[in-house]
Amino acid sequence: MSVAKIRIYPDSILQTKAAEIENIDGRVVHLAEDMAQTMYAAPGVGLAAPQVGVSERLVVIDVTNPEGKKGLITLVNPEIIEMEGKVVEEEGCLSLPGIRENVARAERILARGYDLDEREQKIEATGLLAVALQHEIDHLDGILFIDRISRLKRGIAQRKMRKLVQQAQSSEEKDYTLF
Ligand code: NI
Repeated sequence: MSVAKIRIYPDSILQTKAAEIENIDGRVVHLAEDMAQTMYAAPGVGLAAPQVGVSERLVVIDVTNPEGKKGLITLVNPEIIEMEGKVVEEEGCLSLPGIRENVARAERILARGYDLDEREQKIEATGLLAVALQHEIDHLDGILFIDRISRLKRGIAQRKMRKLVQQAQSSEEKDYTLF
């Protein structure tokens, strides 16, 4: 296993719809392991394959305190099949270091996907897990959380990111939750 380099906005892979995975083979298992290790190292509570440069539909999420990694969820080809209610929570993203904005999401969702043993998984979620699933599945469609905020705030975030990339500096802020 190894920690992968996280792609930073405006990398075009982050704005590209990712491909379905047709076979859950050793390559996919290995990718999922690397993604989990990268997420824990960041640290973050979720990571989507495009964020490590692979445009495929795979996400890892762990919204528990990742001691022992018991809360790790790996989903291949995940989709949201039900959503209801609305919550507004502050979000960040490992691909947009230093940017935090309130984002409106469904309060309760039902997600479906496959685990690494090709078993279908259905996850009903509320709270942070519901937000994380929506955020990560958005990544697979090339959608970032800044695409879900006002144009004005998005413009500010984009300028901040351009400046950050120009300065080629990485964020030292590690004391908040990132997806
Ligand atoms: Ni993200």
